[in-house]
Amino acid sequence: MKNILITGGTGFIGSHTCLNFLEEDLNITIIDSLKNSSRNVLKGIKKILELSNKYDENKINFYEGDIRNTDFLRKVFLQAKNKGNPIDGVIHFAGLKAVGESVLNPIIYWDVNVNGSINLFKIMEENNCKTILFSSSATVYGNSQKIPFNESASIKPFNTYGFTKAAVENILNNMFDSDSLKWRIGILRYFNPIGSHPSGLIGENPNHKPENIFPYICQVASGLREKLYIFGNDWPTPDGTCYRDYIHVVDLAEVHKIALKYLFARDSANLTLNVGKGKPYSVLELVNTFERVNSLKIEHEFSFRRDGDIATSYADTSKMYNLLKWKPSKSLEDMCKDGWNWQNNLVSIKD
Ligand code: NAD
Ligand code: WQD
Repeated sequence: MKNILITGGTGFIGSHTCLNFLEEDLNITIIDSLKNSSRNVLKGIKKILELSNKYDENKINFYEGDIRNTDFLRKVFLQAKNKGNPIDGVIHFAGLKAVGESVLNPIIYWDVNVNGSINLFKIMEENNCKTILFSSSATVYGNSQKIPFNESASIKPFNTYGFTKAAVENILNNMFDSDSLKWRIGILRYFNPIGSHPSGLIGENPNHKPENIFPYICQVASGLREKLYIFGNDWPTPDGTCYRDYIHVVDLAEVHKIALKYLFARDSANLTLNVGKGKPYSVLELVNTFERVNSLKIEHEFSFRRDGDIATSYADTSKMYNLLKWKPSKSLEDMCKDGWNWQNNLVSIKD
């Protein structure tokens, strides 16, 4: 791995992955439009690396720009080549991810998530860059499957965001089928990534009211929101709230390096993998754990079920384990402790 392009590299999962690669002394090129992140993320990454004497500014190139802009992408690839460090693999995080917003604004979601991806694949092809990891989502399984979700289950998304993720998966599969020797493709279906780097220097920082539960809990803890509304306590689950497969973002970052190494070791590949812990926790268990490890109270109230939710979602992780010989190691306690450390730090920085 000489130089990996990380699209969406200043976002939540992207920033932790950039850090993971830089800690291993790998070269990265980041593209981000900063639509849902900021340049401060780069400062956070730098600080963490400086603490362990690992910061080398030559290993990181940042370009602000939009993946829908073909000329911009072309320039990034060309500049890397001219510097003698051509891009030889891509991790594609850039995109829009809010389910509710996707239903209200389908055109922008199809444009960014699908047109943006097509642009990127075009420029990769032009540059004979054949290795890509794509950020897909458990949301592509929809709700009509056997739990835990297995990668061979049928794909039945039921919201615009999910349709765009499934569409990009289809495009990648068509690319592979057209000429299998030309591509090394990894489609990673993440479950519920939460938490932050333990330093508290990078983490999730949504620029709008969070739809996801974890940033919402953190904002209640910090006083930015009054209380958490738990969407339903009448689900067919042991405590009546929904069960999800939470995975620490630091573990999730790590799997990108391992999956990329797996792809680079082969002439050709087309891999689809679930990435979760394979162990579900209920909303109430998440809230109780957050309260216990951080010694604070999360005001909450039960409200109506949210449209589109399912009772239980978790991953069958056997394929990931068998192929990559890797398992996430961080616990729900780690996720809650590290996530709060970041949020707490963020509030004090803002103050
Ligand atoms: P994020 O919003 O924090 O990061 C995405 C980054 O992409 C942001 O920095 C944003 O500024 C950038 N971006 C958006 N549109 C862009 C464009 N047109 N051109 C260039 N950059 C653009 O999200 P995240 O949580 O880090 O998610 C990363 C990827 O993983 C996304 O593709 C998301 O759909 C997928 N995913 C996320 C989750 C999750 O729960 N966080 C779960 C499954 C899959
Ligand atoms: C988790 C649980 C809610 C907020 C979504 C996407 C998925 C992936 C991860 C991108 C559910 C409950 C939530 C709140 C609540 N993202 N909840 N009060 O829905 O499992 O998955 O994010 O790819 O694709 O669909 O995650 O964090 O929104 O919800 O009670 O204020 O928390 O009902 O049971 P979800 P979530």
